[in-house]
Amino acid sequence: MSRPLEALLAVGALLALASPALAGDKPLYGYGTHPTQAQIDAWNIDVRGQDGLGLPAGKGSVDQGSEIFAEKCAACHGTFGEGVDRWPKLAGGEGTLKADRPEPTVGSYWPFAATLYDYIGRAMPFPNPRSLTPDEVYALTAYILNLNNLVPGDFVADKDSLPKVGMPNHDNFTWEDPRPDTRAEPCMSNCRDPKAVTITSTAEGKTLTPRTTGPLDDMQPK
Ligand code: HEC
Repeated sequence: MSRPLEALLAVGALLALASPALAGDKPLYGYGTHPTQAQIDAWNIDVRGQDGLGLPAGKGSVDQGSEIFAEKCAACHGTFGEGVDRWPKLAGGEGTLKADRPEPTVGSYWPFAATLYDYIGRAMPFPNPRSLTPDEVYALTAYILNLNNLVPGDFVADKDSLPKVGMPNHDNFTWEDPRPDTRAEPCMSNCRDPKAVTITSTAEGKTLTPRTTGPLDDMQPK
């Protein structure tokens, strides 16, 4: 085969592979469908703690939150976030983190207020996660922050106000990752000379995990 023909065929093959994806209607591998915007939105619910990126439209007040909390949360977390039986406390615990029995709560431990929105929105109420509207999640977030004396009683939580709430334990987290290979500016090219790495030993051939040929019972200590 001549060189130009070879090249032409190669380009043709590439186009044939790429065109269904470009066309957008027929998936590349012949199965699956393109997600709708509504499906992507339903999946894309994460909220970034630092700056609240991802917080949706909507708002909720401390008072509204207190009513929803009484109905949907207090059975486990207590009317004022004090925790019923062994369900988690959501308030209090300031100054206990170094004690023998630390009480990590939203107020004593969490570094970001916006994370509260993320957590409640994706995980609570425990028996029925993702059943709350954004306004309800905002209201519950405002109420729990108020229980921890972090916002006043007239606070209204929304995408602008939440990231501005100061959290008492924020500065006790370590934000710089000291490991040398996790730099703020990741190296994307010519980072390391592959020849500079010498593999001196591998797990190959070493029986690091005890093997058994019998049923699982054989793995129990005799
Ligand atoms: C049936 C009991 C139950 C109900 C009702 C419930 N929760 Fe929870 N909640 C839990 C449990 C259990 C955890 C701990 C889950 C875990 O760590 O995986 C938790 C954890 C939390 C936390 C994180 C606590 C922390 O510091 O780690 C928050 C915030 C929270 N719940 C808020 C709510 C809100 C708001 C509601 C009402 C909409 C609610 N919960 C309803 C049982 C419940």
